[in-house]
Amino acid sequence: MASFPPSTPLHLFLFFSISISISILPISESQQLQGVCGLEWDPALCSTSGKILIKGGTVVNAHHKEVADVYIQDGVIASVRPNIIVSDDVTILDATGKYVMPGGIDPHTHLAMEFMGTETIDDFFSGQAAALAGGTTMHIDFVIPVNGNLSAGFDLYMNKAKNSVMDYGFHMAVTKWDETVSEDMQIMVNEKGINSFKFFMAYKGSFMINDELLLQALERCKKLGALPMVHAENGDAVAEGQRKMIELGITGPKGHPLSRPPLLEGEATARAIRLARFVNTPLYVVHVMSIDATEEIAKAKMSGQKVIGEPVVSGLVLNDSWLWNPEFATAAQYVMSPPIRKSGHDKSLQAALSSGILQLVGTDHCTFTKTQKALGIDDFRKIPNGVNGIEERMHLVWDLLVESGRISVMDYVRITSTECARIFNIYPRKGAIMEGSDADLIILNPNASFKISAASHHSRCDTNVYEGMTGMGKVEVTISGGRIVWDGELKVKPGSGKYIKMPPFGYLFEGIEKADLALLSSLHSPSRIGRSAA
Ligand SMILES: *[C@@H]1O[C@H](CO)[C@@H](O)[C@H](O)[C@H]1NC(C)=O
Ligand SMILES: *[C@@H]1O[C@H](CO)[C@@H](O)[C@H](O)[C@H]1NC(C)=O
Ligand SMILES: *[C@@H]1O[C@H](CO)[C@@H](O)[C@H](O)[C@H]1NC(C)=O
Ligand SMILES: [Zn+2]
Ligand SMILES: [Zn+2]
Repeated sequence: MASFPPSTPLHLFLFFSISISISILPISESQQLQGVCGLEWDPALCSTSGKILIKGGTVVNAHHKEVADVYIQDGVIASVRPNIIVSDDVTILDATGKYVMPGGIDPHTHLAMEFMGTETIDDFFSGQAAALAGGTTMHIDFVIPVNGNLSAGFDLYMNKAKNSVMDYGFHMAVTKWDETVSEDMQIMVNEKGINSFKFFMAYKGSFMINDELLLQALERCKKLGALPMVHAENGDAVAEGQRKMIELGITGPKGHPLSRPPLLEGEATARAIRLARFVNTPLYVVHVMSIDATEEIAKAKMSGQKVIGEPVVSGLVLNDSWLWNPEFATAAQYVMSPPIRKSGHDKSLQAALSSGILQLVGTDHCTFTKTQKALGIDDFRKIPNGVNGIEERMHLVWDLLVESGRISVMDYVRITSTECARIFNIYPRKGAIMEGSDADLIILNPNASFKISAASHHSRCDTNVYEGMTGMGKVEVTISGGRIVWDGELKVKPGSGKYIKMPPFGYLFEGIEKADLALLSSLHSPSRIGRSAA
């Protein structure tokens, strides 16, 4: 497998300039992304024969691990067993002493998103290249409708994603609610491969929907077999908190966490959970950032409710100390919503994730450069919200939870890949190393170390919220769609990523109608039985 000659930067630069304004390109860009395949380059340099044998590694699935060989052909996993014998035209990778695992699936990203008067610096090309360098082989991004129009939003995002270098799926954000939107949801589910919709309980005056509309939305999702997701913060209270901070003259980045404390996240999480229970539908809470929200999810689970909580890497490994940094540029990097919390919340989120109270881990990767963040220099409300993570997630979670001895390697695969594939109904095509699964996998060396820096990462962002962090466990090889796309160098091919349709009525919906029928019949029974008995 040959890599690219060092003469590629010019070509790269031209490629980038298609989608991005040159003025915001970090200078080091051309050094960061080496080896772009396709276009005028000889494709033979880019594709392996399509046949790869990974020998002698510990193959890890969410339910089992064993020392075995993995044989890959035509983009799928053809065989998993010890001592596979192959012919000469097969690329052989020795994985002795290493882990062979399903590539990561990031359930929560924002690439090429227009937000707060600007657009995220990472698009589907640079964000996915970064993901692959960090061992993530699929992500699910959020389509933002165009003026509330879901179909127009879907078309726009399919276009944004056409230079994809790895597989991707879409959630649909719902930014306003009316009959047309409700109708269009059915088209998204039945024709476009979308099986989840995100609703905003925050962002008053723009995306936020009130309880009446949220109830209608939950009912509609249930009927379609689509998973409702919520951004859970009390938007009215956030608006009031922001007003107070400005009134007090607190206009810098610290005003951000001060204006939207954890209790507002706890309140909205509790409200969404109770409304979902009232409707009897499963619920997915995105970016769980606080003890307050985690406790509500734990309580709901103890009562038997189907609630999924998604922590993100920033919430797991960072605390709010950076937000108090007197340097605006430093503090502003860490502004995201809900905010990164005080130390203590991070540890609780780690505990909840390692014990299964929270089931999978995302990033909310949503990157803006220093220049873009400076839009809020005079007013924290105007700082574009978001942090990086798509490249760092697999490494940081490994070091934090596996290297430290808190979870098994199997559980690592579950929370970084398999559970996401199950929830969004694409398992075992994704999230597994099984015969017939897509050949999206990684080889991780537990004895090698990683170091994170904006100087060496593959995102276009000029900062990294995990700057300087180090740890054990290094993704040495990433295979996407049966091709080696990372082996210390990126070998990505624009347009090689596929859109993955996600069918409705995933496992969380099983049994829902039985519970509904039980409730219905209880309504006619002589003794009174409440909803909670259903
Ligand atoms: C990593 O270290 C372990 C324990 O010492 C060893 O068994 C394993 O073979 C090593 N793996 C590699 C790739 O060096
Ligand atoms: C929404 O967008 C689609 C596709 O661009 C278009 O065909 C449709 O007419 C739009 N609907 C409304 C209500 O504007
Ligand atoms: C909070 O984060 C800072 C900066 O990363 C770190 O130095 C500090 O140790 C953290 N505090 C605690 C209590 O973990
Ligand atoms: Zn959100
Ligand atoms: Zn998000």
